[in-house]
Amino acid sequence: MKNRLPILLLISGLAVLSYVGYAQTGSPDASKFDGKWLRRVTDEDHARHSPFAGQPQAAAAGKLIFAENCAKCHGAEANGRSTPPARPSLRSERVRHATDGDIAWLLRNGNPYKGMPSWSSLPEQQRWQVIAFLRTLPPAK
Ligand code: HEC
Repeated sequence: MKNRLPILLLISGLAVLSYVGYAQTGSPDASKFDGKWLRRVTDEDHARHSPFAGQPQAAAAGKLIFAENCAKCHGAEANGRSTPPARPSLRSERVRHATDGDIAWLLRNGNPYKGMPSWSSLPEQQRWQVIAFLRTLPPAK
């Protein structure tokens, strides 16, 4: 009987560990979106300016592109979703502080490992238009 104790401890330890693992992956916690992709943006990309910055017509075109391609994951209002599969809000401080060039880099490369597809199949002009649309969104409440 005595020598079973370590085994029991091991099994209960594993049970606790797997529960913690489940709680982390199964939770609707959007904190897994950590913005690490920003570290991969080159200085050159970071400094790029949108040819459409501040142009309402480009933002209007971008709104349609957003509805067609992005809303299914990020939500019609770009607020993201907290229930699995969680998706980040595009009205966050992080996105607001990212440069147009940073976002252009992400749209070109995606972050497929984290579930963000590459949009390099969209013409570059349309990617800048969708960025112009994101800039018109008010901050998250
Ligand atoms: C299949 C689902 C999906 C689609 C469609 C999608 N995204 Fe994403 N997007 C994600 C996920 C998941 C992340 C989080 C990636 C990460 O944390 O690195 C993300 C991250 C982002 C971010 C960075 C957010 C942050 O807080 O770091 C931006 C900006 C973004 N997406 C814009 C877009 C735009 C614009 C489109 C449409 C052209 C789009 N996404 C389409 C899933 C999607």
